[in-house]
Amino acid sequence: MMDDLESKPVDLLLIAEDPRSKTMLEMARKAAKSSATILINGETGVGKELIARYIHQNSYFSSGPYITVNCAALPENMIESMLFGYEKGAFTGAINAYQGKFEQANNGTLLLDEVTELPLALQAKLLRVLQERKVERLGGKGLININTRIIAATNRDIQQQVVTGNFRSDLYYRLNVIPVYCLPLRNRKQDIIPLTNFFIKKYSIVLGKIPPVLTTRAQEKILNYPWPGNIRELENLIHRTLIMTNDDVIDEIHIELDEYQIEQNNSKGEFDSKMKATEAKVILDVLKESDGRRHVAARKLNISPRTLRYKISKLKLSGIKVP
Ligand SMILES: Nc1ncnc2c1ncn2[C@@H]1O[C@H](COP(=O)(O)OP(=O)(O)OP(=O)(O)O)[C@@H](O)[C@H]1O
Ligand SMILES: [Mg+2]
Repeated sequence: MMDDLESKPVDLLLIAEDPRSKTMLEMARKAAKSSATILINGETGVGKELIARYIHQNSYFSSGPYITVNCAALPENMIESMLFGYEKGAFTGAINAYQGKFEQANNGTLLLDEVTELPLALQAKLLRVLQERKVERLGGKGLININTRIIAATNRDIQQQVVTGNFRSDLYYRLNVIPVYCLPLRNRKQDIIPLTNFFIKKYSIVLGKIPPVLTTRAQEKILNYPWPGNIRELENLIHRTLIMTNDDVIDEIHIELDEYQIEQNNSKGEFDSKMKATEAKVILDVLKESDGRRHVAARKLNISPRTLRYKISKLKLSGIKVP
C-alpha cells in the first residue's frame, strides 16, 4: 500500500492492516455498491471522513461530485440556505441565486458531517428531502429532483441523542439504513505501526527529510498508548516529532505522549490485574470448599461448568496450582 504513495493523492490513502479494519472496509465496499443511505459512527479522529470518501470512490456515484457539509460549523439559517440553496431576492442579501449542496451533489455523494448537530427544524426538512428525493430552494417556486447518495457521520452516540430528544428518531432510521462503525485505534492495534510508518513517510516528504527509522522501543511505546484522539492524534504526533528531531532514528525519548492518558491507561491495567487476582482467589476458595468437585463449585459460583473449566485452565496456564 505504501508503494501507492506517489501515484495517489496522499490524503486519500487508507491504511488497513488489522483484520478488523479489513472487515470494516469490506463492509464499506459492499455498502458503497448500493444507493442506500449510510451512517458512519465512531470516535473523533478514527477516519470517518476518509471512509465516506472511500465509499464515494467505490460507488456508482464516483464519477459525480463529492460534496461535504459540516452541520456543526454554521448557524441554523446559514446551514439551511447552504443545504437547500435560494433564489435571488429570497432574503436580504440574496443578491444572486445559489445552488444548495443537495443540488451540487446531484449524481454524486453528499456527506452530512456531524449530523447530530443539525437543529431540529432542519432535521425535519432533511427528513422530507430523504423521503421525497426532492429539494426546494428558499424563495423557490418548485421542487427539484435530486439523485444523490447521502452519507451521514457523527462521533456522538446518536441513539442516545434520539433518547434525549435531540435527534428525531424517524430521521435516525432514515439515515441508518446501513451503519458503518469505525473502531477506535486502540481496538485495531495491528494498524498502529503501519499507520505510524505511513505518516513518517508522508511528513518526511512534506519536510524534505530522509524518513527516520522507528526503533522497537519506540514502537512499543506507541503500541501501549490508548490513543484517545485516534488516528488524528497519531498523525499529529508524528508530524511534530519529525519537526522536532533530526536524528535518523525515532526512539522512545523522541515520542512525547500525553502523560495523563498513559497514567489512566496504566491504572486501568492495574485494576484489571487486581480484578483477575480477586477472581482467582474466589475460584480457588470455592474449589477448596467443594473438595475440587467442578460441578459443585460451578453451581456455587453461579457460572457454567464450561466457563469454570475455561477459567481453571487459564489459572493452570499461569502456573497456579488448582485443587
Ligand atoms: N486508515 C487511515 N489511513 C491513513 N490515514 C488515515 C486513516 N484514517 C484516518 N486517517 C487520517 O487521520 C485524520 C483524521 O481522519 P478523519 O478526519 O477522517 O477523522 P474523523 O473520524 O472524521 O474525525 P472527527 O470525528 O474528529 O471529524 C485525517 O488526516 C485522515 O487522513
Ligand atoms: Mg470528521
